Amino acid sequence: MEELGEFFGFMTGIGFSILLLNYLLKLLNRIWISKLPNNNFRKQYNLIMKFIVRNHRFFAFGTAILLGTHLYLQLTYRWLSLTGLIAAILMFANIGLGIIIFYFRKHNHKSLLLFHRFIALLLIAAVLVHLITKA
Ligand code: HEM
Ligand code: HEM
Repeated sequence: MEELGEFFGFMTGIGFSILLLNYLLKLLNRIWISKLPNNNFRKQYNLIMKFIVRNHRFFAFGTAILLGTHLYLQLTYRWLSLTGLIAAILMFANIGLGIIIFYFRKHNHKSLLLFHRFIALLLIAAVLVHLITKA
């Protein structure tokens, strides 16, 4: 069960990385890919980017389920990790914020999106601290 708990922690990390790809793929597209000639590589890249961006919220809900499972298994078979708890609170807060941004997307709330990005940055730090200390 301990290994399963760690496995779900690992999978949560993978899910989180896919959520961050939303930003990274768009950035790479802006600074490099969009300047390429319209070749096959650019087409494939755009397909992958669209898939990641369009399904962002579903990846987030999936990651929440993985995180919930990790949390449950670690609480039951290991201990309550304070750094893990902070990461989980940040992640659920950002999911809430993401839902608000999505719901009001026609109003184009730039500041909310910046805040969404900022919490994602804090999350990277929180997850790293969690992985390094396990405390
Ligand atoms: C975004 C949130 C989280 C991510 C990405 C994450 C990821 C991980 C990963 C990959 C490990 C395995 C580390 C290793 O063995 O080297 C781990 C360990 C652990 N996690 Fe999390 N975790 C998160 C949230 C939580 C939460 C909310 C708890 C609260 C119960 C928690 C409790 C633990 C504990 C106790 C361990 C240590 C297990 C051990 O050493 O046997 N984690 N986490
Ligand atoms: C912990 C979970 C989440 C993380 C770490 C996360 C992270 C991110 C990141 C890094 C961006 C890129 C910002 C940019 O392009 O400037 C973004 C954009 C966005 N996120 Fe999230 N997000 C999460 C959950 C959600 C959820 C649950 C929803 C909606 C239900 C959502 C909706 C959006 C929207 C609408 C955008 C901007 C437009 C787009 O790229 O589609 N996010 N998110």
